[in-house]
Amino acid sequence: MTAIGAALALTALRRGTRAQGAEGRDVEPIAVLGSGHLGSVLGKRWGKVGHPILYGSRTPADARVQALVKDSGPQASALTLEGAAGKANVLVFALPWKAVPDLVPTLGDLSGKIIIDPMNALQMVDHYPLPELQTSVGEHLQALVPKAHVVKAFNTIAAPTMSNPQRLGGPITIGLAGEDAAAKARVAALVAQLDVEPVDTGPLIASRYLEGMMLLSFGYYLHTKKAFEFYLRPVPA
Ligand SMILES: NC(=O)c1ccc[n+]([C@@H]2O[C@H](COP(=O)([O-])OP(=O)(O)OC[C@H]3O[C@@H](n4cnc5c(N)ncnc54)[C@H](OP(=O)(O)O)[C@@H]3O)[C@@H](O)[C@H]2O)c1
Repeated sequence: MTAIGAALALTALRRGTRAQGAEGRDVEPIAVLGSGHLGSVLGKRWGKVGHPILYGSRTPADARVQALVKDSGPQASALTLEGAAGKANVLVFALPWKAVPDLVPTLGDLSGKIIIDPMNALQMVDHYPLPELQTSVGEHLQALVPKAHVVKAFNTIAAPTMSNPQRLGGPITIGLAGEDAAAKARVAALVAQLDVEPVDTGPLIASRYLEGMMLLSFGYYLHTKKAFEFYLRPVPA
């Protein structure tokens, strides 16, 4: 990133708003809550694009988290979960779903924010993964944060693939679902910056099927020790 791009991104970080970064891309602070497998990959890759990454962690000062910060672009930092959530308009919940209902009330005012939801919730029945919820994580999360815009994304792709999607040698779909068209469009733009293809699958109820797709791929892996990623091939008009 150029010095000008870095300065613009720093301004965006201070304001929590978007700016133009290197190569004319929109950059904006992204709060990645959770510094585990998926959160660290997304933070590193968006950091390389030029977005200021704010990791929200239970242990922001830990050497492991600080090493991740160093790997996530010149403007990355690690804060408490509440601190990171307060400094960005786009949040990624790279968290175990079971932690979220207790966590949400501690995150401050989330009104108007975009919450990217990559989470899955499953139970094993007869050695096969099934949904833990009758509806979906996406819908449950939206009910917890009614004034925010939840957008399902990234729940079907494995973190190692997300780290280097081009390794598979062909396109990979990231299915989106959500109620707010503008929020989905912003998330689609962020997804497309990572060399994967966003597909808007519809309203948040479609999360049920996106979460089911992840169960299918996990079940396939358990039974074959092989893996696939999803690509939804468009039918020409
Ligand atoms: N791994 C994948 O390939 C993958 C792919 C698609 C979707 N997903 C979904 O993405 C989510 C994260 O998966 P992951 O594999 O990244 O999990 P993970 O490696 O276990 O990381 C989750 C992170 O969440 C934070 N965390 C854990 N318990 C917490 C609690 N009680 N309160 C607050 N924060 C807590 C931790 O970050 P700190 O230590 O920094 O606090 C932890 O590193 C899951 O819902 C998963 O279903 C994962």
